[in-house]
Amino acid sequence: MVAVATRTPLIAGNWKMNLDHLQAVALVQKLDWALRDAKHEKGSVEVAVFPPFTDLRSVQTLLDADRIAFALGAQDLSTHDSGAYTGEISGAFLKKLACTYVIIGHSERREYHDETDEVIAAKVQAALRHGLVPVICVGETLEQLEEFGAAAVPVGQLQVALEGVPADAEIVVAYEPVWAIGTGKVATPEQAQDVCAALRAVIAEKLDADAAGRTRVLYGGSVKSGNIATYMREPDVDGALVGGASLVSDEFAAIVRFQKHVGV
Ligand code: PGA
Repeated sequence: MVAVATRTPLIAGNWKMNLDHLQAVALVQKLDWALRDAKHEKGSVEVAVFPPFTDLRSVQTLLDADRIAFALGAQDLSTHDSGAYTGEISGAFLKKLACTYVIIGHSERREYHDETDEVIAAKVQAALRHGLVPVICVGETLEQLEEFGAAAVPVGQLQVALEGVPADAEIVVAYEPVWAIGTGKVATPEQAQDVCAALRAVIAEKLDADAAGRTRVLYGGSVKSGNIATYMREPDVDGALVGGASLVSDEFAAIVRFQKHVGV
């Protein structure tokens, strides 16, 4: 039985490999203005941005100086803490830059960088070692959807990623069907709900019922201002991991404000 808990919705913008540090600063400023203009209530929805590594310091400085209440996250981290690993970024460095979150196991990392479930599990451990909250991404390809249905692959991926994670760890899970990322194709709210509920059951099994009750499970894949509310109505969907639409300040602000424009 999963304990009932209040989960603050999390709207996370994964910028992927877009925007240099100057463009990053401009986007965060515009997003802040858009939300201030709309009188967005800060505590109602948590907003997080995930810029490329080279932008993190500039964005952190801006958030700090202008007291902007967005959480900061990175898109990946090394399994190692330091040493002779050319090109890698340690979780320790991300923590020093005031990152709260780090995305782990995004399907683009799984596909283009051959990240296995075991590598992803090691990255989850690295994030936790450095006090970062891992945003663990799972999802099935179109072939896997046709062969196994929607939940089987993401459930299996999450079971491995949560190996050895303590029950009191703070984590976020993101269900992103690979066939819905950047394609304009979306899962139906019912599909998203079913898989997010199955993932919450994995958290209950691998961590405990309390963890399952408090952990945010996000949906991702072609989320826009026009469809966010349909997902947020589902009881096991606690937010969204947004790619393309997070690069457009007004559109991302409208997604953050899903409670207002559709009356969820
Ligand atoms: P999308 O990307 O919103 O552009 O589909 C989502 C993601 O990959 O996190």
